[in-house]
Amino acid sequence: MTYTVAIAGLGKRGMHHAEAFAANPSFRIVGLCDIDEARAQAAKEKYTDAYATTDSVDMLTKTKPDVFCFCTLPTLRLPLIQAGVDAGVQMIAYEKPVATSMNEALEMYKLMRGAGIKSVVSHQHRYGEHYQKVKEIIASGAIGRVHTVYGHATGWMLHMMTHMIDYASWYNDYAEAEWVVGQADGTEKFSDNHPSPDYIAALIQFSNGVRGIIECGAGAPDVPEVEAWWRKCRVGAQGTEGFAEVLTGGGWRAVTRDGVSSGPGNMDYAHDMPPYIQDMADWLDGKKVHPCNGETAYKGFEIMMAACRSVVQRGKVFLPLGPGEHELDALKKALPVPTAQPAG
Ligand SMILES: NC(=O)c1ccc[n+]([C@@H]2O[C@H](COP(=O)([O-])OP(=O)(O)OC[C@H]3O[C@@H](n4cnc5c(N)ncnc54)[C@H](O)[C@@H]3O)[C@@H](O)[C@H]2O)c1
Repeated sequence: MTYTVAIAGLGKRGMHHAEAFAANPSFRIVGLCDIDEARAQAAKEKYTDAYATTDSVDMLTKTKPDVFCFCTLPTLRLPLIQAGVDAGVQMIAYEKPVATSMNEALEMYKLMRGAGIKSVVSHQHRYGEHYQKVKEIIASGAIGRVHTVYGHATGWMLHMMTHMIDYASWYNDYAEAEWVVGQADGTEKFSDNHPSPDYIAALIQFSNGVRGIIECGAGAPDVPEVEAWWRKCRVGAQGTEGFAEVLTGGGWRAVTRDGVSSGPGNMDYAHDMPPYIQDMADWLDGKKVHPCNGETAYKGFEIMMAACRSVVQRGKVFLPLGPGEHELDALKKALPVPTAQPAG
């Protein structure tokens, strides 16, 4: 079966998606949209059969796609979900982070669930051979009983935290989170196009007794072995008999009951995007649920918002979350204005 696809937001990630959809025989790109006309036209020159426009509603109305993919910056989610629902698409594939507030995520998922739309969120690093190898080692039991999963990145919250939570949760078989305790620091990154506290940490209690430890931003442990901030992430699991972990830009390593081992792997869009897109076709064909399905991503996002709420409210924040004060606004108000570091 061939599925038609319309893509909105043709920046870096939009073009990665276009390339991977175009290379997959299960998909045909019928629509391209960017508010920047030059970007829409440049994409149209590559994918000449598609309708190109600067208006996503116009694109969806004219092309009536099976799949609506959008790759806009984090501050644009709900209106595009609404547009996809109104157009009657079967699947919405969009970029992380899920949303910028819990209220927005609640509204987005109410719309998609109500319309029976499958959703997929781009936590595609998991396709890396090193991410897969660590999962295989943990699942084999070679590190014993997992008691802790962890993820840290020097990249800031709205860029990296849902990646970290998603992969650490995967290494814990996506057990439900019961509560989260969070702490944060610094307000400089609130003016970024991925508005975030400069640093945030989350402690997660999972229902199977496993502890999650997540840290993102300036102050999270560096991964000096690795180049480029978006690859400076460590995600893994500790068990009763060892540990296994991935460095996003630096392979994997493990100490298990069988000894010390390590291997290659590097986050690479050219490697990770084709299977990510193929899994969309398999889900639409009814073969299997996409590993990056939106319901899982929603749970990860909820953990991130619980950490933000904990900074403001203090103490444990129990899940699931209902509506509340916009988390980023509340954090911005609650965090102290930066002061100079004490000498010495
Ligand atoms: N999964 C990953 O590995 C990964 C990597 C990098 C970025 N991202 C995420 O991808 C998203 C996009 O990042 P990017 O680096 O591609 O950004 P970008 O700025 O390169 O592209 C965004 C595009 O969206 C367009 N746009 C804005 N409003 C629009 C609208 N209403 N309709 C149509 N187009 C519109 C902009 O003109 C721009 O071309 C972000 O959420 C980011 O966090 C994910």
